[in-house]
Amino acid sequence: MKSEQRVKISGTGGYLPARRVTNDDLAAELDTSHDWIVSHTGICARHIMAADESPCDMAERAARVALERAGVAAADLGYIIVATTTQDYSGFPSTACLLQGRLGATQAGALDISAACTGFVYSLEVARGLMHCDRGARPTLVVGVEAMSRIVDWKDRNTCVLFGDGAGAAVLELTSEAGRGILASYLRAEGSNPDTLYCGGGLRTQPPVTEARLAHMNGRVVFGFAVKAMAEVVLHFLETLQLSPEQVSFVVPHQANIRILQAAQKRLPIAPEKFFMNIAEVANTSAASIPLALAELDRSGRLRAGDLVITTGFGAGLTYGGNAILW
Ligand code: COA
Repeated sequence: MKSEQRVKISGTGGYLPARRVTNDDLAAELDTSHDWIVSHTGICARHIMAADESPCDMAERAARVALERAGVAAADLGYIIVATTTQDYSGFPSTACLLQGRLGATQAGALDISAACTGFVYSLEVARGLMHCDRGARPTLVVGVEAMSRIVDWKDRNTCVLFGDGAGAAVLELTSEAGRGILASYLRAEGSNPDTLYCGGGLRTQPPVTEARLAHMNGRVVFGFAVKAMAEVVLHFLETLQLSPEQVSFVVPHQANIRILQAAQKRLPIAPEKFFMNIAEVANTSAASIPLALAELDRSGRLRAGDLVITTGFGAGLTYGGNAILW
């Protein structure tokens, strides 16, 4: 790798399962309403994986689109990184290995990354590190995929209305082009209160595991953390990269709750219309959220080469972070 080289995103892809579940559909089964969900979260619908689909199926769909858009053959990939907490297998093998086999990426190393909704942000930086370490690095495929429908308690209105399924993918390549590529990432964790947002099951002994593999959340605590974290990430980049708010083309936030995004916006000097949002249609797809949003923004034609895009996310762990990318 030459010192002036950066890692750029050369192709994106997204996949949403065909089954679309509206708020009214949920209200038919649960003590909730379209008005409550939309006013408290901004969510109108979510897409749910079919009974015969798996997370790897969704990842493959998104990955193939990203590879095609990048003009990269799977056989040329150097790494496949999958950000997920809802794997096809519980534990191992990783979803990245399954995807490697599906794609026939015979030269690729493959690993999963577990950072919940911040998983894609973490994965981009891990990929960047690997590519900078590995002289003459091949392209890397990074996928965020999540089947949240399989771990939410569909009887718990506090959580189930928030989530959806999907996958988003990005192909990364080294570039010497001036004004393109990932400038920096910011990765943080606050792991001292894991019960704020966790998935049951697992092997821990303290407290002993008694519950099923279902998501649990203290919504108000997560809300407060999220607003602070999302804003901190963007302010960090403005300060450390010495950027003016006008230089930022888009902020692509984790699509968790529109009220979180609006509260974070108020703490930032960036114009609200620069925040990309698709939560109304996709809900919170965890690790797939940011790459799905990037793929949709990319496909919309609103992005130009060299645009400055800042991602900002948070999730269980608690984790948070972002990436500053010259598109
Ligand atoms: N439909 C109708 N009522 C609901 C409801 C639903 N789907 N979910 C909760 N309520 C009720 C509550 O039971 C509560 O009723 P009560 O006052 O009788 O007890 C009332 O609405 C208000 O609950 P509250 O928790 O104060 O709502 P809120 O304004 O904090 O919104 C969340 C709840 C979950 C939407 C909000 O806290 C949130 O988005 N938190 C962050 C979650 C998140 O982003 N998680 C993912 C992290 S990656």
